[in-house]
Amino acid sequence: MIKSNLVEETLQILHDDAKNDYIKIAKGMAKSILRPIKPTDFENAYLPISKAQGEHLHNLIVQNDFQNVVEFGTSFGISTIYLADAVSQTGGKVITTELLESKAKIANKNIAQAGLQDFVEIRIGDAMKTLKNENAKIDFLFLDGWKDLYLPLFRMLETNFHKGTLIYADNMNMADTLQYYNYVQGNSNTYTSKLIGGGKAMLTSLAA
Ligand SMILES: C[S@@+](CC[C@H](N)C(=O)[O-])C[C@H]1O[C@@H](n2cnc3c(N)ncnc32)[C@H](O)[C@@H]1O
Repeated sequence: MIKSNLVEETLQILHDDAKNDYIKIAKGMAKSILRPIKPTDFENAYLPISKAQGEHLHNLIVQNDFQNVVEFGTSFGISTIYLADAVSQTGGKVITTELLESKAKIANKNIAQAGLQDFVEIRIGDAMKTLKNENAKIDFLFLDGWKDLYLPLFRMLETNFHKGTLIYADNMNMADTLQYYNYVQGNSNTYTSKLIGGGKAMLTSLAA
């Protein structure tokens, strides 16, 4: 549970502003009619998780006393604020990564507005590079960047997982997540997973 009014107020402002996303998404989709979509097509859009998802992520971290949290896909920092508030209660830290510098700068400002800057490190650039050679263990991994990278990123970070690691992947109803889904489901000796939120997201833990 979020205990700070400042965090609650900041999230409310950002969720309200994100309601204008649909116009920006439509413009982004229009650009990509004749070619694959690019992250820059959505440079002005939050593309955020919902408040209910944010609260769920928060609860998972606090209830499991997770400290080392990694996020793929910062955008303007809505999800990062939920993660950061949670680790502020467990004594942990969030490493988050965003491809677009313009988005990372706004996220930085929003996270500071919520008073959570001491709990977040933002790495700017392609997650496959910014998280490469990461040797700290990961307690909680939140996948919410471009969907075709879920599997390569997950595989790159597998050596950082431990028995208690939990992986939350959003947008599992999007076609580009299929390879990730098949990999995790196909390795049932190593991973146990379940779809949640009517199939929108998937929670994965290391099999006992
Ligand atoms: C769905 S949005 C993230 C929303 C955010 N988690 C939230 O709930 O507020 C996905 C973000 O991933 C970023 N992204 C896409 N490809 C990336 C990559 N290769 N490395 C890092 N970030 C990437 C996009 O620029 C976009 O801002």
